[in-house]
Amino acid sequence: MKSISAVTSRLNFGVVVVCFFLIAGIVLLNYNLYGFDIFRKQKTPLVVEMIGRNSSSSSNSSDAGNSPSCPEYFRWIHDDLRPWRKSGITEKMVEKGRKNADFRLVVLNGNTYVETYRRSFQTRDIFTIWGILQLLRKYPGRIPDLDLNFFCGDLPRIKRSIFSLPVPLFSYCSNNKSDDIPFPDWSFWGWPEINIKPWTPLMEEIMEGNKKLQWVDRKPYAYWKGNPYVSGQKGVRVDLMKCNLTADADWHARLFRQDWVSERKNGFRQSNLVDKCKYRYMIYVEGNSWSVSQKYILACDSAALLVTRRYHDFFSRGIVAMKHYYPIDIYNKCRSINKTVCFGNSHPRQAQIVGKEGSEFIRRDLNMDRVYDYMFHLLNEYSKLIRFKPKLPENPIRVSSKSMSDKETGLVKKFMMDSKVKPFSSSSSIPCSLPPPFAGSL
Ligand SMILES: *[C@@H]1O[C@H](CO)[C@@H](O)[C@H](O)[C@H]1NC(C)=O
Ligand SMILES: *[C@@H]1O[C@H](CO)[C@@H](O)[C@H](O)[C@H]1NC(C)=O
Ligand SMILES: *[C@@H]1O[C@H](CO)[C@@H](O)[C@H](O)[C@H]1NC(C)=O
Ligand SMILES: *[C@@H]1O[C@H](CO)[C@@H](O)[C@H](O)[C@H]1NC(C)=O
Ligand SMILES: *[C@@H]1O[C@H](CO)[C@@H](O)[C@H](O)[C@H]1NC(C)=O
Repeated sequence: MKSISAVTSRLNFGVVVVCFFLIAGIVLLNYNLYGFDIFRKQKTPLVVEMIGRNSSSSSNSSDAGNSPSCPEYFRWIHDDLRPWRKSGITEKMVEKGRKNADFRLVVLNGNTYVETYRRSFQTRDIFTIWGILQLLRKYPGRIPDLDLNFFCGDLPRIKRSIFSLPVPLFSYCSNNKSDDIPFPDWSFWGWPEINIKPWTPLMEEIMEGNKKLQWVDRKPYAYWKGNPYVSGQKGVRVDLMKCNLTADADWHARLFRQDWVSERKNGFRQSNLVDKCKYRYMIYVEGNSWSVSQKYILACDSAALLVTRRYHDFFSRGIVAMKHYYPIDIYNKCRSINKTVCFGNSHPRQAQIVGKEGSEFIRRDLNMDRVYDYMFHLLNEYSKLIRFKPKLPENPIRVSSKSMSDKETGLVKKFMMDSKVKPFSSSSSIPCSLPPPFAGSL
C-alpha cells in the first residue's frame, strides 16, 4: 500500500511539473509573438499629455496638436494591428490572406481598385466599398497607398494562433479568439434590403424622436424585436423568448418576432426604428455574431440592456457597463432583466442617466465624422506597417463614386446619394488625433 501511494504521489508530482512547463511554454510563445500580450487586459491611459502630440511625426495621419483627441475606443486600433507591429505586413501575408477575402481593395495615388473574389451577402460589399470611396472624398490626398483584403461575413475568420502570425483581414467584427481587424460595417451607408437608411439621417431621426417621447412617458418594460432563429450562440435568442410575458410570469420584458417577409410587403412600416424607442429599456442580444442594431438601440435614450456580448465591432469596446448600458447575464437572462427593469423603475433618475449617456456616446463619438476618422486612422496605421509597395491588381477595376452610383437604381442609388460626402464642405475636415495605445500594450 505504502509503495503504491508513494508511486502515485510521485506521478502526481511529475504531472504537475510537466503541466507547469507546458503552461510556461505557451505563455512564453504568446509573449514572444505578441509582445507584451499578457499585459493586454490592463487598460489605463498613458500619460495624458502624450495624446495626439508627436505621436506620428513621419506621416500626415494626425494633425498633431491642432485637432481634438479622438474617442477612447480609437485606441483599440493599436491593439487590433498589434500582431504585425514587429514583423510588419509583407506582400506574402497579404497574398496568403486573399483566400479569406470577398474582395481586395487597392488604393494607389488616391485611385481605388477593387478585385472581387466572391459575391457577398446582399449589398454589404457595395456599401463598404462606397464608404471607403467617401472617406477618400472627405480626406483627399491623405489616404496612403494600400492593399487590403476584406471579408463581408458575420463571423470572424482569422482564428488566433500561438504558432503563427495571422494574415491581415478586415471584417466587421472579431472576438477574443480572433485577429480580424474590425472595420465599420455597411449599414453606416445604408442597408436597402431592409430599408435602413444611411447613418447620418437615421441618427438625426432617432434623436428627433427622442425629444418627442420623454423617458418617463415610455412603457416601463424591456423591449426586443428581432429574429429569434438567427443564432450561432446556442440558441440564446430562442432562450430569451422564455422571458416574455406569460399568464404565469412577468419578467418585465416585451419581446416580439420580426417577420421580414410580411414587413417587406407592408413597406417596413412595422420595423421603423424610430417607433421602437417607446420603451424605457431596450434589449440587445447577439445573433450569429455582433449585430448592427447596437447603435440604434443605444441611440434611443432608453436604457440599453446588453446581454453578455462575445463579439465586438469597431466601436463597441468603447461603451462601459453601468455608464452607457446595463449588463444582462447571458446565463440568467430573465431574472437579470427583471431585476434591472424593477431597479430602474424605482430609480428612474439613474436609469434615465444611463439611457442619456448611451445616446450621448452615439451622438458624440459615433457620428459619421468619427466613423470616417476611425477609418482614416485605421487605414493610415495599417499602411505604416506595409513593407511593400502596393501595385495594380492583375485585372484592375477602377471604382469611383460616380462609376458605382451610375450602375445602381432605386433605393441603393438613393442611399448612395444620401450618404455621399461633399468634398471640402464638411464642418470638420481635419481628423481628430489618434490617442496612444493603452498602457501596458507598448
Ligand atoms: C516633439 O518631439 C521632439 C523631439 O522628439 C521635441 O523636441 C518637441 O518638443 C516635441 N514637440 C511637442 C509638441 O511635444
Ligand atoms: C501632408 O498633407 C499635406 C496636405 O494636407 C500635403 O501637402 C503634404 O505633402 C503632406 N505631407 C506628407 C509628408 O505626406
Ligand atoms: C421581478 O422582480 C420583482 C421585484 O424584485 C419581483 O417582485 C417579481 O416577482 C419578479 N418577477 C418574477 C417573474 O420573478
Ligand atoms: C410576447 O408576448 C406578447 C404579449 O403577450 C405577444 O404579443 C408576443 O407575440 C409574444 N412574443 C413572442 C415572441 O411570442
Ligand atoms: C473570451 O470570451 C469568452 C466568452 O466569449 C470569455 O468567457 C472569456 O473570459 C474571454 N477571455 C478573455 C481573456 O477575455
